[in-house]
Amino acid sequence: MNDRLQLPKVELHCHLEGTMPPPLVRRLATRNGIQLTDGLFDNNDQFVWTNFSEFLKAYDGGARCLRTGQDYHDITYEYLSSCAQQGAIYVELFASPDHAAAVGISYTEMLEGCVQAIDNAQRDHQICGRIIITCVRHLGPGQALSVAQQMVAEPHPYVVGFGMGGDETLHSPQDFLPAYRIASDAGYGCTAHAGEVCGPESVWAAIDQLPVTRIGHGVRSIEDPKLLEALYHRNIALEICPGSNIALNVYPDYSVHPLLALLDAGISLSLNSDDPPFFWTSIGKEYQRGASTFQLSEQQLLKISCMALKAAFVDEETKSQLLLQLKN
Ligand code: ADE
Ligand code: ZN
Repeated sequence: MNDRLQLPKVELHCHLEGTMPPPLVRRLATRNGIQLTDGLFDNNDQFVWTNFSEFLKAYDGGARCLRTGQDYHDITYEYLSSCAQQGAIYVELFASPDHAAAVGISYTEMLEGCVQAIDNAQRDHQICGRIIITCVRHLGPGQALSVAQQMVAEPHPYVVGFGMGGDETLHSPQDFLPAYRIASDAGYGCTAHAGEVCGPESVWAAIDQLPVTRIGHGVRSIEDPKLLEALYHRNIALEICPGSNIALNVYPDYSVHPLLALLDAGISLSLNSDDPPFFWTSIGKEYQRGASTFQLSEQQLLKISCMALKAAFVDEETKSQLLLQLKN
């Protein structure tokens, strides 16, 4: 496998609370005097889960060890630093105010920690980070509305988007339209997880009912040619996370993963790690796998970074500067 470490990488889909490797979760738990959830890690110090709903529970088990703005600073800084070492130049991180609120951290405190870390990582590692505030689908539309209201009431230039993760089988995207309207009307880029656990109908619902320009995952769009046409014509980009899809058994192995077919269909897409330690991946590994398993050339990988940046929610001036870095 060629070393693709130097290739400039762009990540648009990664959950901040899901970036913490087990040793960091342990460190935070000790620092905050918290007992870890029973069975969170196995004997090899890996998160324990066997299906999507167990994964979501393990995710919450890690997130509950965060207790201060400093914790948010530290996990953001550690993640951005590791991405920079893998050649990433731009990263958008999903941050969930619901997870912060569950352990008594205010939106302001969470945000201040993240913002400080973005500045520190830019200074120390020349990586640009931005935040997508995310709601959690299984917590329901009311909670999502509060999250969107909080986001627009306390704007910060590093908060550039609004998203939704969580259990795709619950509720309809339409239920979340009030939250998305607030975000979109205030100028935030919008994305939603769809077509990961559920089929193409889930992507149709998201793109027809919500003001999104990106879809988190969306891999199962490949099952519906008309949907592919719609994504292409509406210029909706897919945030593809191959390692996550295999780990969560959306596909049994890479030979049947639709990454190449989506590229062939002309769909704008990015490569992403989703929740790196849960899925034994990283942004560097995703690009490496692009080169090895999917046999993408360096030029094709660079084009993926370029498509990702074009779909990014960062302001146009910063985007232009980042695009220049891809050309050097
Ligand atoms: N939250 C964190 N990771 C997620 C994923 N892969 N799908 C849905 N919600 C998530
Ligand atoms: Zn995700």
